[in-house]
Amino acid sequence: MASNGQAIDVNCMTLTRFLLAEQRKRAPDATGDLTLLLQTIQSAVKAISSAVRKAGLAKLYGLSGDTNVQGEEVKKLDVLSNDLFINLLRSSFTTCLLVSEENPNIIEVETEKQGKYIVCFDPLDGSSNIDCLVSIGSIFGIYKKISQGTPSIVDALQPGRNLIAAGYALYGSATAMVLSTGHGVNGFMLDPAIGEFILTDPDMRVPARGKIYSINEGYSAIWDDSIREYINSRKNPPNAKPYAARYVGSMVADVHRTLKYGGIFMYPATKDAPKGKLRLLYECVPMSYVLEQAGGLASNGNIPVLDIQPTGIHERTPIFLGSKEDVNDVLEYLQKY
Ligand code: AHM
Ligand code: MG
Repeated sequence: MASNGQAIDVNCMTLTRFLLAEQRKRAPDATGDLTLLLQTIQSAVKAISSAVRKAGLAKLYGLSGDTNVQGEEVKKLDVLSNDLFINLLRSSFTTCLLVSEENPNIIEVETEKQGKYIVCFDPLDGSSNIDCLVSIGSIFGIYKKISQGTPSIVDALQPGRNLIAAGYALYGSATAMVLSTGHGVNGFMLDPAIGEFILTDPDMRVPARGKIYSINEGYSAIWDDSIREYINSRKNPPNAKPYAARYVGSMVADVHRTLKYGGIFMYPATKDAPKGKLRLLYECVPMSYVLEQAGGLASNGNIPVLDIQPTGIHERTPIFLGSKEDVNDVLEYLQKY
């Protein structure tokens, strides 16, 4: 509700209007291609949101019968979301190369439809939460082509520092889109009545310290000692209240909560998974970019996630992301060992 009691804010700062205003600020350099690309992602997100909301009724739950490149079973909603992203991005005339969690290789856009951008995306993250109605999300990062001639793997393997824009959509109790084009972070919520994302969280900032830790504690027996010691220190802090534990198991939901409330989200290396579980290009890098743009930190334990030079499109990395002071605390523990 707007403060004047109206159900609709008549100023109505839609995502579309916001993107056009940002483009005008960068005139005459901005060509409008990035605006169009972000609009395209907005369309994909609206379509996925609609599918997610009616998935149980439309029999979209369950498995598609396929496995993806990481050997995981693919759900029907995963396939639908991936097809939406790919089809819409291809026909936007703004992209030349796509990297998706669901496709083993880079996807080259037909020459006549090529634009200058590369998009790395996870079309529907948090698959294990789909069928039980827990929050899930989409994640994307956008780069400019750096190679000459035909787009190649070199264009996909850029460090996060080269990002032009990144963000995510959260299909939670409402559908939200959180976005950065390198000038801070803004959050929008979908008003299903008018089919528009409305600016609800301008200039989002992550608190310098939080009171929540977020990690899959079921794996504590296969963590390094440093992680065990850090988590114990959050449970038994001298002269302070213990931190609360929260873990949704959908990265977008866990990171969005961390952005809003502060604290730390971690997916460390384990004895079973020495590089952790989460994927660098389309999970960790875009989320790290958003958190850094909001004044937080994101590290792999040694260096900022955004400084990692990728060597493969599906590579994984450990990640520690959130409030500055909380991330610095865990880094101190990691360095002790
Ligand atoms: P997915 O890409 O197969 O959906 O897996 C990624 C998800 C993340 O959203 C989440 O942070 C993590 O897997 C949870 O993994 P775990 O169940 O090992 O805690
Ligand atoms: Mg994923």
